[in-house]
Amino acid sequence: MLITIEGIDGAGKSTLLASLKKELADCDPIFTREPGATWIGQVVRQAIAEEVDPVAEALLFVADHAMHCAAVIRPALDAGRLVISDRYTDSRFAYQQVTLRGHLQDPRRWLAALHEGWSIRPDLTFLLVLPVHRALERLDGENTREHFEREEVLTEVQAEYLARAGAEPSRFILVDAEEERGVIASFVAEEIRRVCELRGRYPRS
Ligand code: TYD
Repeated sequence: MLITIEGIDGAGKSTLLASLKKELADCDPIFTREPGATWIGQVVRQAIAEEVDPVAEALLFVADHAMHCAAVIRPALDAGRLVISDRYTDSRFAYQQVTLRGHLQDPRRWLAALHEGWSIRPDLTFLLVLPVHRALERLDGENTREHFEREEVLTEVQAEYLARAGAEPSRFILVDAEEERGVIASFVAEEIRRVCELRGRYPRS
C-alpha cells in the first residue's frame, strides 16, 4: 500500500515522518521521499538552488519521480510492503502548476499527460494544512529559503493542494497542521492502521 504525506513547506511533514517511524515500527514500512530517493534527486536539488527554467525544473521533478517509481515504489509494492512517501505526485500538481503559470497554456493538462501510463497512484494521501503565515514563521528558523518558500507562492500552492483534495475526497485526508505534534502523529498512524486492517495487511507476523 502506498501512503503519501503532502503539504506546503513549513507544514511539519518532517516532524510527522519522524514520529510515524516510531508509531508504525511494527508494520515495518519503507519510508521514502521526493525529490531525492535516487541520484536524480541531487540534480533536482541543484536545479532548485539555481532557479533554472520552470519547464526544465518540472521535467527534472518528473524524471526524479519516474526513477523513484521504478527503483523504489514498484519493487516495494510488488513485495507487499507498506510504503510511506514524504511528498509525491501531488507536490508536482501543487507546486509546478504555480511555477509553470505563464510559461505553459495549461500546466495541469501538461503535467497529467507527462504522468500518464506509468506513474503509480497513492492509496491514501495526508494533506497537512495550515495558514501560510504560520508555515513561514516555522521556516524563518532556517538559514536559506528556496524560491518556492515565498508567501504568494505558498498561498497558491496550498490552494492547488486543496483543489486536488476536493476533487479526490476518497484519497485525501486533511490534517490540521496547527494541532499538537503528538496528536497529529497518533491520528495519522491510526488512520494508516485502519486502512491497512480494512485490506487485511500489516503488521505481518
Ligand atoms: P523537500 O525536500 O520536501 O523540501 P525541504 O527538504 O527543503 O524541506 O522539497 C523541496 C522543494 O521542492 C519543496 O519546496 C517542494 C518542491 N517540490 C516541487 O516543487 N515539486 C515536486 O514535484 C516535489 C516533489 C517537490
